[in-house]
Amino acid sequence: MTCDFLVIGAGIAGLSFAIRAAAHGSVIVLTKGNALDSNTAWAQGGIASVLQPGFCDDGDSVELHVADTLDAGAGLCREDVVRAIIGEGAATIDDLTGYGVDFDKHDDHFALGKEGGHSKRRILHARDTTGREIAESMVEVARRTPNLTLLEDHFTIDLITTGKLGSTTEDRVLGAYVLEKASGEVRIFRSDRVLLATGGCGKVYLYTTNPDSATGDGVAMAWRAGASVANMEFIQFHPTCFYNPAATGAEARSFLVSEAVRGEGGILINAKGEDFTRKADPRGSLAPRDIVARAIDREIKKTGAPCVYLDVTHKPPGFMRERFPFIHEKLRSFGLDCEKQPIPVVPAAHYQCGGVVTDVNGKTTIRGLYAIGEVACTGLHGANRLASNSLLEGNVIARRALADILSHYGVAKHTDDAPEIPDWHHGDVTAPDELVVIYHNWDELRRLMWDYVSIVRTDNRLRRAGTRLRNLKKEVREFYWGHRVTADILELRNLVAVASLVVDCAIRRRESRGLHHTLDYPAPDDRFLRDTVLRRF
Ligand code: SIN
Repeated sequence: MTCDFLVIGAGIAGLSFAIRAAAHGSVIVLTKGNALDSNTAWAQGGIASVLQPGFCDDGDSVELHVADTLDAGAGLCREDVVRAIIGEGAATIDDLTGYGVDFDKHDDHFALGKEGGHSKRRILHARDTTGREIAESMVEVARRTPNLTLLEDHFTIDLITTGKLGSTTEDRVLGAYVLEKASGEVRIFRSDRVLLATGGCGKVYLYTTNPDSATGDGVAMAWRAGASVANMEFIQFHPTCFYNPAATGAEARSFLVSEAVRGEGGILINAKGEDFTRKADPRGSLAPRDIVARAIDREIKKTGAPCVYLDVTHKPPGFMRERFPFIHEKLRSFGLDCEKQPIPVVPAAHYQCGGVVTDVNGKTTIRGLYAIGEVACTGLHGANRLASNSLLEGNVIARRALADILSHYGVAKHTDDAPEIPDWHHGDVTAPDELVVIYHNWDELRRLMWDYVSIVRTDNRLRRAGTRLRNLKKEVREFYWGHRVTADILELRNLVAVASLVVDCAIRRRESRGLHHTLDYPAPDDRFLRDTVLRRF
């Protein structure tokens, strides 16, 4: 199959690009599962944006939003990128309402929420299911957009580039090998404009707020294709994942209690009822996430308790049900009435701040390959992402990427001089009959990343993780080449690759900054005031 624009991923970043690009050429969007399985659909809090005066919080401005983002990013944000993205925020909101997204309002003004690290109320939201509202609206628009084909259950295995085919001239993208899950066949999708919008890698960790699909596919593919990757040590742990020891199933184990709950007055307390986060930062429960997650980690280790608590019992009766209906109902289904009992919570992996290196237009180091959203490292987040900046980034960079592509490549196809792409060879491989190897390695990987590479790190633990990952990589490689590919083995292969990138970046950063905290170098060190960039070739 050939198209003008091949988009891999169907969250806000991919669809935002695809819907616009369809006015200029043929678009195929591939997603490995259901189009509503994206990280976007799971976002609760909302999208941060400063609206025009009169419609924003008193005294708020783009400058203040920029300052909060830079402050959270702990010295590593690229200020030009931060200004560009935040400056285009209001236009993004117009796009989304144009797609039918129904943000909450008070009278005829958007209702604005607050989250950690924000000095003002500036989070637009749709109850506590903002992501679902955005995803459903955009998938519906995508399905009726002419020139746009949305293919679900299509798992992209690898990018095809001139470099991979042996060319020594400028490396450019030619398309991708894609597993059609229903038939088990691998097909070639040709396009010399490929957009990676595959989200992050939360499933690398045992505990995560992410859906099962967050297996780092885009970063792993781009890395194998030779693109540069940066800042993978900065994995954000969300402070308040519902602690539910009896839970079975990913949805119950990964249930997020939005930071917006703290924005509305929820307070983190320990088992004695003490507001322990104030010792770490005067902003207490609403300090940036790195600070709050570390404070919880310390409290849990100090007291030996399995969790801390998010207390909203002081809010007026009915408040939670009205403002956070999804969270309220979900907690009730787990047997907890949050209006009467504090909510047990623990930190869990939530967001990958690093990724495939791009410029402010999503352009990677491989010609024709763009990366947008969580998969990318644009420089917006630096060492720690400010809450609710990511939906904003996905939408803004999607606009900019299309403008960049149109200005550099025009709309005509560029496939005439493209080299022949070899068919996928299954060789003499058989269907995998050793599923236990996959499941064992999957569990081992996620456990070792949790134990050795989570909120607080040491050189020793990182080295241990590196050694074990090298063994896992070898086993997975043997399995991959020895069997017919399936979604499970492809995900495991990507998880191992991305976990190794996290460890490689973390080992290089011999200081503590933002989300990377190591007991061996507990303070920031200006010699490391730069991105950790990994180059494959
Ligand atoms: C949340 O609702 O707490 C998540 C928001 C975000 O990660 O930006």
